[in-house]
Amino acid sequence: GGGGGTYLVLLFVVILIEHSSPSFHMDEFIKVVEEMEKEDSGLGPVAVLKRLRQAAGLNSTFIQYFLGDANSGGPELDAGLSVYIEKAVHHRVTSGAKEEGVVLTSDGTTVALMPLVLGIEAGFLYKSRKSVRGLYLLTLFKDLDLSFRHSSTATQLLWPDGCWDNVTSPQVFTLLDNPSLLTAAQVNGGMDGVVLGMEAKVRHSLKLSSLLMEYYCHQMESNRLDTAPLLISQRRRENFKGLVSPPKLIREVVKSIELQRSLAGHSKMDKKKKKQLMVVVKAGIREFVHKYMACPPIIPRCIWGAQPYKGTPTNLSLPLSFMYIHHTYIPSKPCLTFQQCSADMRSMQRFHQEDRGWDDIGYSFVAGSDGYLYEGRGWHRQGAHTLGHNSKGYGISFIGDYMASLPSNHSMWLVRDWLSSCAIGDGRLVSNFILQGHRQVVNTSCPGDALYNEIKNWEHFGVCVYEY
Ligand SMILES: *[C@@H]1O[C@H](CO)[C@@H](O)[C@H](O)[C@H]1NC(C)=O
Ligand SMILES: *[C@@H]1O[C@H](CO)[C@@H](O)[C@H](O)[C@H]1NC(C)=O
Ligand SMILES: *[C@@H]1O[C@H](CO)[C@@H](O)[C@H](O)[C@H]1NC(C)=O
Ligand SMILES: *[C@@H]1O[C@H](CO)[C@@H](O)[C@H](O)[C@H]1NC(C)=O
Ligand SMILES: *[C@@H]1O[C@H](CO)[C@@H](O)[C@H](O)[C@H]1NC(C)=O
Repeated sequence: GGGGGTYLVLLFVVILIEHSSPSFHMDEFIKVVEEMEKEDSGLGPVAVLKRLRQAAGLNSTFIQYFLGDANSGGPELDAGLSVYIEKAVHHRVTSGAKEEGVVLTSDGTTVALMPLVLGIEAGFLYKSRKSVRGLYLLTLFKDLDLSFRHSSTATQLLWPDGCWDNVTSPQVFTLLDNPSLLTAAQVNGGMDGVVLGMEAKVRHSLKLSSLLMEYYCHQMESNRLDTAPLLISQRRRENFKGLVSPPKLIREVVKSIELQRSLAGHSKMDKKKKKQLMVVVKAGIREFVHKYMACPPIIPRCIWGAQPYKGTPTNLSLPLSFMYIHHTYIPSKPCLTFQQCSADMRSMQRFHQEDRGWDDIGYSFVAGSDGYLYEGRGWHRQGAHTLGHNSKGYGISFIGDYMASLPSNHSMWLVRDWLSSCAIGDGRLVSNFILQGHRQVVNTSCPGDALYNEIKNWEHFGVCVYEY
């Protein structure tokens, strides 16, 4: 410890506050963690996490039940640093649907820090145990009791995503929909908290900043996701899906509600009440599992920086019967990062709107090689992708030129398995929909020889006779 460390922290805070407004980006948060570790190199990860928890005011009896007192006994944190931590970690939704306590990560997704740091602390704390006590309750199912009691139908359990004011220097995050039980950022942070909590349990000598950096700052190489490490944020849903089953999630929610009741001094639920609760919990978990463990992650328009739709959209009449596969041809290179994929989306939209004179980017969804799909016209608006067939199917395009080579396995998997089962489950595609290459219905080489030969082996691939 000592003066040098304090000086470093002060210097950092001055830089943070005076020379640029502190942004709510994961990279910025990791810098704060590094400074805390530098300030006293004797601090282990649990002590650092306790200090974070103390600064963020995360000291409810529910949290203390699993993690103990937040007071680390260490030296006081610098006031400026405490203020930043409180804002970055303490989760709340304020008026105007502003969500606080969330940060933008380098892969373009937004994460609530509270469930993340609580999950990691539990993992480090219970390293010698068989399982991490309270892992799901601290990360995903912490404040459910009221919501579950008051919402009687699953349709009230919306999970809204949101938009940043500026993705280069993110300050304000606004939800796209009314907040409800859990926001998308809380679910992302909760899933990461579970995945990294399990990792902290087995790699307990790791520094917190190293754990976060490995997970959130992975640089994709030309081999794309196919040979990247398993534990990176781009694989959040796959990793989470590998750890849990729906029955386990149902049990954890019930456990959480029972614990909240008992900590509040309420008696146990009677049989009838518990039965009613189970109906709601099962419906809620069914929706959760569909949305986060069957559907692929999709980067919303506001995050990639889309221009508004021009004119009046035509609504699709759902469910549709076709999915048409495209390649973009230009851009010809697969995109490997959020920045590159977003720039590609913007340039395609500009080309379609300005040069072609269309209302919007033509495709319904676009697959990057960065682990994400990107929202084009989306599920409800008719696209401009497959001449004469736009009202019948979704147009899905892979960024790149696939005449001679294939997109990453990972991106093909997202479209072939995740996107189609997601669309069927939501009643957007009929369960026996037909998948075709663009060239099957229009005189074009799209989606490229290599990709076209590949999709011939996909489930749902079909040939059908059209009347021209
Ligand atoms: C948590 O901390 C806040 C602010 O430091 C304090 O007002 C509150 O009483 C604490 N709650 C518990 C349960 O310790
Ligand atoms: C976002 O913030 C950066 C850095 O402060 C700034 O240079 C840029 O102009 C901002 N972008 C927009 C769209 O406001
Ligand atoms: C992609 O998947 C195929 C079949 O599933 C497999 O043969 C191939 O090795 C995989 N390629 C990479 C780069 O993972
Ligand atoms: C299209 O759908 C939107 C919302 O889903 C709705 O507000 C709008 O009225 C619909 N337009 C038509 C022409 O039906
Ligand atoms: C398809 O397009 C190619 C090249 O643009 C052209 O040579 C060919 O005649 C077209 N075929 C049909 C059936 O229109």
